[in-house]
Amino acid sequence: MQARRAHPRKIFSDKMLGILDSGLGGLGVAQRLHELLPAYDLLYFADQAHVPYGDRPAEELSALFASNVAWLNAAGASLIVMGCNTSCAVAQRFGWPSSAVPILDLIDAAAAALQQRNARRIGVVATSATVAANAYRRAIARRLPDAQVWEVAAPALVPIVEAGAADTPQAYDAVAEACARLPEGLDAYVHGCTHYPLLDRHFAAILGDRIPRIDPAAVQAERAAAAARQLGLAEGRGGVRYVTTGDRELFRDAIARIVGGEPDVRAAAEAAA
Ligand code: DGL
Repeated sequence: MQARRAHPRKIFSDKMLGILDSGLGGLGVAQRLHELLPAYDLLYFADQAHVPYGDRPAEELSALFASNVAWLNAAGASLIVMGCNTSCAVAQRFGWPSSAVPILDLIDAAAAALQQRNARRIGVVATSATVAANAYRRAIARRLPDAQVWEVAAPALVPIVEAGAADTPQAYDAVAEACARLPEGLDAYVHGCTHYPLLDRHFAAILGDRIPRIDPAAVQAERAAAAARQLGLAEGRGGVRYVTTGDRELFRDAIARIVGGEPDVRAAAEAAA
């Protein structure tokens, strides 16, 4: 299936870095990147018309990824920083979309974070599509060939986060159900979906202090900051803009809740008008 999306005019700064996710998860990457590069302009693109990605077939996810990358290219992004594991998982398996600018893989950033810790028994909770692609297992095997990896799919979690229900007993129960499928004796747990750090308090309560919890967003933001400098990308005004293919008002409320402030939010179709 080919997803088509009207392309934006270059209404944004042409020095900006693009961050891409299906919804709210990549906000953690954007926040960290803004902390590391406060003078750069960021454009956050959320494909909320299609969230959750995790339950969609790989062919559709590849088409959506290509369409989102084309949108960010047309908008003038100088670098695309992935805030979506699911898109990366499918791309690792079936190919990366063509792009005029580099795309930074999030799953390799996660594997690098695990390598830094020399983890040996690794638990990953991720979306169904990420687990079906065996994306974490393969990425970790390239860096830590002796490590054992357990991947657990948790399709209930992204809809809970998108609905603003992270603080509910239902959220706790869904995290508990996923964690119950991880084995004992892990020496690292990694959030294999960027939405899950928004449920981290439940993971902390259930997994306890003995298992370090890794959020790949931190390493991804560090890599993006290094890439921006390496590519010689110019600083902008330090603005952050948000675009969604879904409901603009709901997205604005969610960003205000998660990030704070008065976010500058546009609808993707409006930006293309
Ligand atoms: N936040 C994305 C990820 O890291 C996608 C989640 C979804 O839409 O299912 O995989």
